[in-house]
Amino acid sequence: MSNEEHQGDALENLLQENRKFPPSEEFAATAVAKPAIYDEAKSEGTEFWARQARELLTWDTDFTQTLDWSDAPFAKWFVGGTVNAAYNALDRHVEQGNGDRVAIYFEGEPGDTRTYTYAQLTEEVKKAANAFESLGVSKGDRVAVYLPMIPEAVITMLACARIGAVHSVVFGGFSADALRSRIDDAEAKLVVTSDGTYRRGKPSSLKPAVDQALKKEGHTVTSVVVVKRNGEPVEWQDGLDLWWHDIVDSASAEHTAVAHDAEHPLFILYTSGTTGKPKGILHTTGGYLTQSAYTHKNVFDLKPEKDVFWCTADIGWVTGHTYVTYGPLLNGTTQLMYEGTPDTPHQGRWWELVEKYKVSILYTAPTAIRTMMKWGDEIPAKYDLSSIRVLGSVGEPINPEAWMWYRRVIGADKAPVVDTWWQTETGATMISPLPGITVTKPGSAQVPLPGISVDVVDEMGQSVPNGSGGYLVIREPWPSMLRGIWGDPERFKETYWSRFDNMYFAGDGAKKDADGDIWLMGRVDDVMNISGHRLSTTEIESALVSHPSVAEAAVVGARDETTGEAVVAFVILRGSAKSDDDIVTTLRNHVGQEIGPIAKPRHILVVPELPKTRSGKIMRRLLKDVAEGREVGDASTLADATVMQQIATSMRK
Ligand code: PRX
Repeated sequence: MSNEEHQGDALENLLQENRKFPPSEEFAATAVAKPAIYDEAKSEGTEFWARQARELLTWDTDFTQTLDWSDAPFAKWFVGGTVNAAYNALDRHVEQGNGDRVAIYFEGEPGDTRTYTYAQLTEEVKKAANAFESLGVSKGDRVAVYLPMIPEAVITMLACARIGAVHSVVFGGFSADALRSRIDDAEAKLVVTSDGTYRRGKPSSLKPAVDQALKKEGHTVTSVVVVKRNGEPVEWQDGLDLWWHDIVDSASAEHTAVAHDAEHPLFILYTSGTTGKPKGILHTTGGYLTQSAYTHKNVFDLKPEKDVFWCTADIGWVTGHTYVTYGPLLNGTTQLMYEGTPDTPHQGRWWELVEKYKVSILYTAPTAIRTMMKWGDEIPAKYDLSSIRVLGSVGEPINPEAWMWYRRVIGADKAPVVDTWWQTETGATMISPLPGITVTKPGSAQVPLPGISVDVVDEMGQSVPNGSGGYLVIREPWPSMLRGIWGDPERFKETYWSRFDNMYFAGDGAKKDADGDIWLMGRVDDVMNISGHRLSTTEIESALVSHPSVAEAAVVGARDETTGEAVVAFVILRGSAKSDDDIVTTLRNHVGQEIGPIAKPRHILVVPELPKTRSGKIMRRLLKDVAEGREVGDASTLADATVMQQIATSMRK
């Protein structure tokens, strides 16, 4: 069976799903979003967004035009408006009398805790802003942030936003090489890092990766600010390295936020695409903040006076940007931030935290849900989870079984589950049920949010009828849309706007069911989704080929019960290289070094040949069949039909 047929089958099974969960009357009665919001958005058009922008944010200068799309696909939202992100996330809550409300409950992996009220967090951000300015960082400069999940990560991002510096957060799981290429691409002036963090009960280091990244001359970094987190010894370079506690703690807590243009760059976040080099996705201020606040409030039914929100994502990913740093704080939310892994020191850690902090809204990824499902119902059953009232999922399609488990075991069979579809590029949620309104279906993200225009189209760009599948597209510009790829406007047009006329192509396959609800079917390009993390097959192939023992490599994402997909690599060695266990370990480590541990292939298979068409294109579809243990599909277009047999033989060895 071919891969497409196989997917088709899985799809049919999914669409047999007919369980439906209407919101309870009590929930609906007090819900933030009322059903009329859909009609309002439709009738108001872009003015709907103007209203959201004015209601949700405090502008220094009001904007004069909601959307300028004259230079499409380069959008300008809220033209003429000026706004400061940090002021909106912090100072204004203090000015409005909510300074004593908790902004962040921090729980470290070893169990140390810190609490920041809005007043305290504002003060910390002002100090950090002064400290960064004293290092010569000013508006428009880029700052690389390589930090674990500690409050200083949020403080750093907001301090940058406050002074108009552009943050570029690099996930702590990326390697020194990956960090350096991101520093170089953005020409970062400052790096903010920590000595390390705690991982699975042990100190783990970060600073050595920064040292390694900056070893080679020719970079643009003039200072490295280091947070002391785990106290492990670090190498120190005088004139470059500075302790956070030396420069931030002593800085003045007076700092006036200057408003920035609505289109001033807020951050760059690198993400994998279909080619080898990660793309620096650029987001700007007014539109991103508006949609972050709007989605956070409506999708999670946020009641800032009483909710405790917990998004488990790391700030190294877009989810951590929009639903840890920006959305929650803009809305004056109390949130939990947890540094560590879910099974340290025991598999009930998350539920212990939910009980301890009375978390009412939980937002996590299907891979985590499936892992906890595997650990067993008895673990969450030991804790009081009665505070939970809304459950969110993000990052990859959620299978109906995991959805049902999430609702039943974590949500006491009543908390609505919102499956939110979006991307680094979209900046904020685009497709999701609204709790209190939508009758939810396990496994479907269902409906575009009010104000968002999503469709599923065929090869020719025609909208498909209900019951059919195709490509997910976005038809109208949206406020938090990416404004481009850092330094590469052509690649921006080419990647997202060339596949279909006047539509944004997301790279995802999707299907409309009989009711017109949307089911996401995974990527249709060479992007893989491993535990909700985006990785490119080409990027890993390039990493493999950069090793002297490798002649050629092909990488596929193979279906995996827990992580969604797993990286499987097929390599041809160079003549002199020996095929043994050592080479597999060497190559896995090499990928870890080039990209980061998350990209290490689960399996590497040394093969004599790769299946190629007569024009030399690798048929990854066939390799995927092998990797997923299926019978190999139609191989009639192969240049050499015996190749697949050879691969199957090396597989058996
Ligand atoms: O394939 C889709 C998948 O994750 C991709 C975006 O990855 P990234 O930019 O890293 O952002 C992840 C967090 C927003 C999408 O192209 N994806 C994300 N959310 C969902 C999803 N697939 C199905 N259902 C979702 N809810």
